[in-house]
This record gives sequence, C-alpha cells and structure tokens, in this order.
Amino acid sequence: MNQIVRQAARWRAVFRVPGDKSMSHRALLFGALADGPSTVTHLAPGKDVASTASCLEDLGVRIERAGRETAVVHGKGPSGLAAPVRPLDAGNSGTTIRLLTGILASRPFTSVVTGDGSLRRRPMRRIVEPLERMGARIETSAGGTAPLTIRGSRLRAADLVLPVASAQLKSCILLAGLLAEGRTSVTEPALSRDHTERMLSGMGVRIRRDGLRLEIEGPQTPSPSDFDVPGDISSAAFPLVAAALIPDSELLIENVGVNPTRTGVLEVLRGMGCPIEELNPRTLHGEPRADLRIRTASLRGTEIAGDMIPKVIDEIPVLAVAASQASGRTVVRDAGELRVKETDRIAAIVKNLAAMGVRAETFEDGFAVEGPQRLRGAVIDSMEDHRIAMAFAVAGLLAEGRTRIEGTECADISYPGFFGLLSGIEHV
Ligand code: S3P
Repeated sequence: MNQIVRQAARWRAVFRVPGDKSMSHRALLFGALADGPSTVTHLAPGKDVASTASCLEDLGVRIERAGRETAVVHGKGPSGLAAPVRPLDAGNSGTTIRLLTGILASRPFTSVVTGDGSLRRRPMRRIVEPLERMGARIETSAGGTAPLTIRGSRLRAADLVLPVASAQLKSCILLAGLLAEGRTSVTEPALSRDHTERMLSGMGVRIRRDGLRLEIEGPQTPSPSDFDVPGDISSAAFPLVAAALIPDSELLIENVGVNPTRTGVLEVLRGMGCPIEELNPRTLHGEPRADLRIRTASLRGTEIAGDMIPKVIDEIPVLAVAASQASGRTVVRDAGELRVKETDRIAAIVKNLAAMGVRAETFEDGFAVEGPQRLRGAVIDSMEDHRIAMAFAVAGLLAEGRTRIEGTECADISYPGFFGLLSGIEHV
C-alpha cells in the first residue's frame, strides 16, 4: 500500500496514541507466567503485540478478549505453558522472540520460534550465548539468527555482563533468571528501558537494582495483576516532531507513558529549543504517565550520543527529520544498534533524506545532518519498517509538493490508524 502525504499548513488537535508496545508485550508475557487471571487494558493494538498473544496461545495460554484493547490473560504459572504443536511465529517483533526465548529456555519441552524475513535477519546470538551460560540448549540458523530451536533444560543462575544496552536482552536474561535455580545477576553498560523490572516488581517478584546491576532470585512465580497500559511515547514521537515543525501548531497528546528510560525524545526536543509540557502527571502500576502539550518552535541542532542513545533508540528516525529542519549541525553517534533494528535504520534514514534532497553524513554508528535544508516531496521506500514509514510521513508534512510513502501497511506494526490521524491536518 502507498500513501500520499502533502505539506501541512497547521495542526491543532487533542488525541491519544495507542498503548505502549513494550509494556503491552510484557503485560501479556508476565500475565501468562502468573498463577491466575490478569486484565490488561489499553493494550497496544498493533501487529507486534498480536504476535506475542498468538505465540502465548500456541503455548496453551488462554487470552480472553473484550474488544481490541482489553485482554484477560489466564496464567497458570510457568508450568502451565504447554509444548506448542507448530513453530511459534513472532512476526516482525524482536521483543516477542527475545523475551519468549528467555522463558522457553527452561520449559520442559522443545519449541521453535521464528518470524518474518526482517526478524530472521536480526542477531540472536546476543541472547543465545548468555542463555547457554545458564545451561540452555538453543540452535540458531547459520548466521546466529532465527529460527531458534529451544530444547528446554534446567537452568542455573549466572552472573552476566551484557555487551550492549538492550532491554530485550536484559529482559530475556531476567526472565530466564526468574525461572532458574538461584540468584542471577545481569549488568548492562547503560540503562535501557526498565519496564521488565518495574512490572515484575508490581507482580510481587523480588528484583534488586544496584546501579546498572540487577539481581533476581529464582524460581519465582509472579502474582496476577491488572495493568492499564499508558500511551506509547515512541508513537507520540511522530506527532510531536510534526507539531514542533508545522507552523502555528499545538497538540495535546493525552495519557502518554513518561518512564524516564523512555523520555529521551522529550529531552532531545527540549534541548533543540522546543518546550514540551507534561501536564497532569500521575503514576499507575509503577509507570509514570502525563499529558504532553507541544507547540511550534524553532529548533537548533544537537548531539545525541552515549547514555542518551538507549533512551531514544526508536525515536532517532523521526529526530533525524527534525534535525534536517533545525539550524546547525545534529550529530548522532554511539547508535550502531540502529543497524540491527527492523531494517538498517542508519542506511534507511540517510537514503530517504537524500531522496527528499537532504544531504547527511553517515558513520558506522550514526549520522550527521547540517540544517536547515529544504525537504522536497519524493518517493519514500519504507523498507517495510514501521518507524521509517512514519518518520518520513512526518517529513512529507514538511516538504514541498507531494510525498509518496511506499509500503505503508507496516505502520500497523506499532501504530494502526497513524495515516488516518494525519488526514485530520490542514494542508497548504
Ligand atoms: C524494546 C527494546 C528496544 C526497542 C524495541 C522494544 C523492548 O530494543 O528498540 O523497539 O520492548 O524491550 P533493544 O532492547 O534491542 O534495544
């Protein structure tokens, strides 16, 4: 599917974004491990979370739905998971395959987990090696990729130091540690999103944090717990950047998750000169949320690097668009992880900026853009990556002429309704 996006004149609106994808995966997975029913409300409606739900159903977990965004997960404890009769399909979702593998490594059956073409190119050795140190038996394909064949075995606790700041990797190990015998520790090089720690704690699991080191004692069974998912700040990032740059705009995005490990996009935009207000702040189930108000601003270039990267990793494509319109140089470094996302996002950003007439410099671990540069309507290759499609739709709102985004169905991975939202904008 293709979508045409035209230059916007102004955008004023009040709305919500879909439920947070990271928390939605976890609410389903942790609910499945609990010994009793957990109700999840405002569950992310996208395809990635649907992949987690269908994998759990293939493992014998009953998930009762009431509408598209409410689910009751009937957990029966870790031993309630049953051998699947077919390969588990994680679709496009790295979080599904990596967290699920951490759980399945210790279950007393063999399972195969696979996914779509993009997921089958993504690195899985990063989870397989530490799990093997805990006694797991997992076969990968030749390149260290999925499909993964997991032969469940008794896991022993281990002390693990992770080479990359990845919440998927950290969470995989924490889940393996939850079900292993003894005390597992995991240390990450920089703080990645901490939903696993917060949400498991909320379900009565004892996890200790000491700086970047976490300790979990296994085996433990989470207590069932209802969870209301706040809006996804990674989805809010697209309208936020659009509103900062479209003239005469003001948005109020209600009920967005503002966990400090996720708010890098707010910090970066503020640092670029765009004030964003957090109204009505409150915390539910240990996860802070607020309504975000943003108005048009004039942006200046910035540097995004180091410990900021994990806090903004999924928002870098849309921040690259912001950088092209900011005055001065924006440099992104230490972001080599972007090369192993749904697509090589550094290459996809630079290629699509070039298609719109914007020159950028590429590094192995990032890129640099000197702004402001004029954006011209163009044909955009989404590379079937939801965040690339949506970031360049935002670019299309700022560009002269018409922009055609190819392969827009991928937006449904995280933000069904995204292109519908844009149709409410006033055009030039
Ligand atoms: C996620 C972690 C991040 C992020 C992904 C979701 C999660 O990946 O990019 O969209 O839910 O844990 P990494 O942990 O691999 O950086």
